[in-house]
Amino acid sequence: MPASSLDQLVSLCKRRGFIFPGSAIYGGLANTWDYGPLGVELKNRVKREWWKAFVFKRQDMVGLDSSILMNPKVWEASGHVGSFSDLMSTCKYCKRLIRMDHWDELMNASPWFHSLQNLYSRKKSVSLEDLGLWGQKEGKKLAPNLAVVRNPSVTLSWLSEFLEKAEQVAPDAPIKSSMRELVKYLASEQLGMTGLRLPCPYCGGELTDPKPFNLLFKTYQGVLEGEGTEIYLRPETAQGIFVNFKNVLDTMRMRLPFGVAQVGKAFRNEITPGNFTFRTREFEQMEIEYFVKPGNEASAFEGWKEEVWNWFIALGVDPSRLRMREHTKEELAFYSSRTMDIEYQFPWGWGELFGLANRGDYDLQQHEIFSGQDLKYTDPDDPTKKFLPYVVEPSFGCDRSVLTFLIEAYTEETLPNGESRTVMKFDKRLAPYDLAILPLSKKEHLIAKAQELYKKIVQETDLVCDFDVTGSIGKRYRRQDEIGTPRAVTVDFGTLGEDEKQGTKDTVTIRDRDSLKQERLPISELLGKLK
Ligand code: GAP
Repeated sequence: MPASSLDQLVSLCKRRGFIFPGSAIYGGLANTWDYGPLGVELKNRVKREWWKAFVFKRQDMVGLDSSILMNPKVWEASGHVGSFSDLMSTCKYCKRLIRMDHWDELMNASPWFHSLQNLYSRKKSVSLEDLGLWGQKEGKKLAPNLAVVRNPSVTLSWLSEFLEKAEQVAPDAPIKSSMRELVKYLASEQLGMTGLRLPCPYCGGELTDPKPFNLLFKTYQGVLEGEGTEIYLRPETAQGIFVNFKNVLDTMRMRLPFGVAQVGKAFRNEITPGNFTFRTREFEQMEIEYFVKPGNEASAFEGWKEEVWNWFIALGVDPSRLRMREHTKEELAFYSSRTMDIEYQFPWGWGELFGLANRGDYDLQQHEIFSGQDLKYTDPDDPTKKFLPYVVEPSFGCDRSVLTFLIEAYTEETLPNGESRTVMKFDKRLAPYDLAILPLSKKEHLIAKAQELYKKIVQETDLVCDFDVTGSIGKRYRRQDEIGTPRAVTVDFGTLGEDEKQGTKDTVTIRDRDSLKQERLPISELLGKLK
């Protein structure tokens, strides 16, 4: 899907009741989204298919639904209180928040930094006059808040002082060789007062001192606000599984290897949410913690890698838009010996859809230390052997999976008759409705017959059925295409035996969403066909 079509998808999602902007009647709340009547069906189906594949169809998996609110010690043990944070600065002028580990990357993409680099590559030596001129012309357009632009005389005068001193000390002053150093100087008005500052990659403005910004969402439990009542909304569902490890083990008589699956909300105070539902502060995860004997984690990792990949493909994701990406050593979380992401080619570029991590026994060990409880597994074949299992963690973003299925389904096509249509080609297992019943017109006896058929289908099958009488039949087909209903059944005058054609009584037309083929068949055969 080209990036331009994302806007069309977002608008379809709103128009057809999949996803609405959050709190819209109050002017919204940035980056919050509400799943509408069709969105909730789609999302529930994604979760159902996931649960079916990874819990019901496997003997080695069980489910769990743990609390969002947990004892704060859980998050101390897991490391989230101490290290789930990014170093952040704010630009004093444009107010943008800058993740400082992204500063170099942002500067490399910054138009004003490029322009300054050009100035230096064009000329062998750049004088203070050149810099002043640059500030007044290019700089003014590109970096209006850079000190040399706002206040050239002050900035350049102490730069000149500095150069003089530097040249006395070392003729090859670093300022001449390092763009980064130069940029710091050009961004600092009064060296003595402010010290050297990294500038804002967007506007050149002064950045505040970096501060760790913890991504945990805090809240208070009970009537008193303050220390002792502060707790967190969980940032991942995983820890709920670890703290229940012993409960599951004891009650379900599990033997290694086995896994626990959980679907639920997680919260992170993300610094840069965005791209529709891709990165939000409240989101849903579908996570598995898979416990194995130490030594067996590598083969379990390989197994899960394949299973997960196949799950996305089986539900209609084009493999050419998926890729696996191993984390580099620098990227690895300190507790992980191996992590791999499945990335999807979103309209704005590749992005993480799923993560698979080899967590070793880090989490269980931490919870043993912090809780003082013995969480070891006893080998059923040799009770003298007690150990902490190793963990392989397949972690899915539920909202990101839904977004992927929406993007994959979105199709604009021209029909053989020259008409164009938008159709959501969901896999049949994911479409919000299995079927639509459409009486051809609003005539009462036609509606009554269609209602009778609707009731029969919903009573005798598990199919989720829409019933639509509003607008022309053409418009209703178009709506069903846009919401991705795989089949539409039309009840017409032939069904009532009122058609000139003979032999159509108690027959209906069934239309296929993708091929657009229409088939006439007796109602008595319809249920069998649908089942
Ligand atoms: N327990 C491991 C864990 O939470 P993660 O990579 O931080 O790992 C797992 O998150 C998955 O959750 C990601 O692959 C992504 O699909 C989803 N996810 C993470 N942060 C998200 C956010 N802010 N908005 C939407 N989905 C998110």
